[in-house]
This record gives sequence, C-alpha cells and structure tokens, in this order.
Amino acid sequence: MPTTTTTPTITAPFTFAGLNLPNRFVMAPMTRFRSPGGVPTAEVAGYYRRRAENGVGLIVTEGTLVGHPSASHETTVPRMTAGPAEAGWRAVTAAVHAVGGRIATQLWHLGSERRPVDGVEAWTPSGVGGHAMSTADIDTVVAAFAEAARVAARAGFDAVEIHGAHGYLLDEFLWPVTNHRTDAFGGSPARRAAFPAEVIRAVRAELPVIFRFSQFKERDYQACIAQSPHELAEILTVLADAGADAFHASQRRFWEPAFPGSELNLAGWAKKLTGRPSITVGSVGLTSAFPQLPRLTAGLATGEYDLVAAGRILLGNPAWARLLTENRLTEIRDYDRSHEDVYY
Ligand SMILES: Cc1cc2nc3c(=O)[nH]c(=O)nc-3n(C[C@H](O)[C@H](O)[C@H](O)COP(=O)(O)O)c2cc1C
Repeated sequence: MPTTTTTPTITAPFTFAGLNLPNRFVMAPMTRFRSPGGVPTAEVAGYYRRRAENGVGLIVTEGTLVGHPSASHETTVPRMTAGPAEAGWRAVTAAVHAVGGRIATQLWHLGSERRPVDGVEAWTPSGVGGHAMSTADIDTVVAAFAEAARVAARAGFDAVEIHGAHGYLLDEFLWPVTNHRTDAFGGSPARRAAFPAEVIRAVRAELPVIFRFSQFKERDYQACIAQSPHELAEILTVLADAGADAFHASQRRFWEPAFPGSELNLAGWAKKLTGRPSITVGSVGLTSAFPQLPRLTAGLATGEYDLVAAGRILLGNPAWARLLTENRLTEIRDYDRSHEDVYY
C-alpha cells in the first residue's frame, strides 16, 4: 500500500470554460435506473450531494435522455425535459451547489441500443441495428440535444457532458463499422465527426461542453474509432473546433497506453492533439490498496491529463475522494458488484 496517497496536484483547483473546480476529482456518469418516469427524485439529489460534500469537485450525472422518442425505451432512466424532470433536476443542482460542488449532466441518445419494445424503432447512422437516419432525422436529434441543453441550463447545471462513447448513437457515427454513409456525415474520420460536432455546437450555445468518447464499445472491447493518433487528431480537431471545452476519454483501465510507441493514455492523447483539458477514467482505485495511484498522480503532475473520474469505487464510498486525500485508505470499502444495487 502506498504511504503517500495524493500529490498537491489532485487537490489543486482547476478552471476551464469559466468553471472553477475546487479539485481534480470527477464522478463518472453511472446509470442507476432510479428515476421513475424519467424524473429524478429527492433520493437522487441526496446521492449526488453526498459525493459533492465529500470532495468530488465535479459531478457528472448518469446518462440523461434527450427528449425524442428515439432516444431510449427506458422508463427509469432520467430525462432532460421541461416539466417534472426539469424541476427534479433543479433540486439536484441546488443540493450539489449548496455544498460547494459543481455538476454537469450527461446527455444521452442510445442509437441502436434502443429496444423497440414500445413500437419505436432504433435510430442509427446507416441502418446497422435499426432505422437509417435521414438528414432530416439528424436535424431532429440535434434539435433534441439543443432543447435538452436549454432545460439543463434552466435547471442550474454548470455544464453538459455529451455522451459520445461506448457504442451509442454519437459513437456509432464515429465508428466506421456502423457508419457507412456517403454524405457529409460519413467517410473520413473528420466526416464521421460531423454529426457529433453539430450536437456540440447546439449544446455549446447554452452551456460549457465536455465530450466523452471511447475506442471500445460495450459490445466490442477491441473496437476502435481511430486506428492511429493521426486519425484521432482528425476526429478530435473537428469536435474541438465545434466548441468542445474538454474531453473525457473513456478507457477501461486508465494506465494502459492508447497507441503503440507511447505511454500516453487516451486522455493524454486527447489533450496533446487538441490542447483542451482532459479527464482520465477507468478502474481508478477500485480497492483500498490502489496500486496504480503513483501512475495516476504522475499523469496529473506532468499534465498528461487534468482531471480524474472515478465511477464504481464511488458507489459504495460516498466519501472516497476525502478518504484518499486524507490518507485514510484503509477506510475505503473495496468495490463490489452489489454496490450497484444500493444508493449509498
Ligand atoms: C453501473 C454503471 C453505469 C454506468 N453508466 C454510464 C453512463 O450512463 N454513461 C457513461 O458514459 N458511462 C457509464 N458507465 C461507465 C463509467 O462512467 C466509467 O467509465 C466506468 O465505470 C469505468 O470507471 P470505473 O472503473 O471507475 O468504474 C457506467 C458504469 C457503471 C459501473
């Protein structure tokens, strides 16, 4: 077990897009299925508040659906729509702000992962697993993200994280296996980024934007949107030019190099290629022992990435960031799958 837990860097403030963060800890977005009818409850507000008051500088909410029927079939995943959901979210942001935290909402469209249980077909770039979107459909989804961003701004969010990872709609445009389009939204890596870029532009009119992306898909861990740093640069340059203020580079294990020939992880490449701040994530501190802590803090100290997101370890440990900062590692409960079933 390491004797020195954190470097000053992890507790140092960080500012981007006018967002003043008290430290480098981010809560990763995690779907919890506890918002009946898409409306976050007081239980949801308390869950996020407990992380914010215990040292998580930036909360990213669970994936939250934009208000178009194609977005999802789920009924207990929260939505970002006017009315009761907006009121529920206003209570969530107030609870987090009251304890000095910052909060971004992750906006989500499931693409081909939508199940047609209610008679609505999945929307996809090229018909792989559902309806092939027309350019009018693309405009419709961009407008749905824009509307969700307006709701998020009214509800008091500090930023929006756009879900462009893990095989859902935006990522399906980025991935050549699911995007066979021959119009302006398909082809080269830069053209595959054109639809996510339109979404970024629409959301950026309302709030700062974090763009989350990944190489892997939930159904294919070997998948790649970019075969090389050059291809990744093509994609991320389009997204940065569209207004992405930061990149959240989703990896399953943050310490793994993203490409051969360099130790840089995916967040490291995102920052190097765009000059924008980046968030690293992936198996950060899943146990109290945390053998990769020196690698994590070295990446912060060298500026490889700026922020660190933790997901699963925060499920059973609302005070994880505080315990780590105060060198109280032995008080951390190792991650256990059963933590996903409870709201600690
Ligand atoms: C229960 C659960 C739900 C998740 N839901 C989302 C989600 O809604 N959006 C998303 O981008 N990632 C989601 N993820 C992925 C996490 O954000 C994170 O990238 C992943 O768990 C790796 O980080 P960790 O090892 O610290 O948990 C989820 C992960 C878990 C465990």
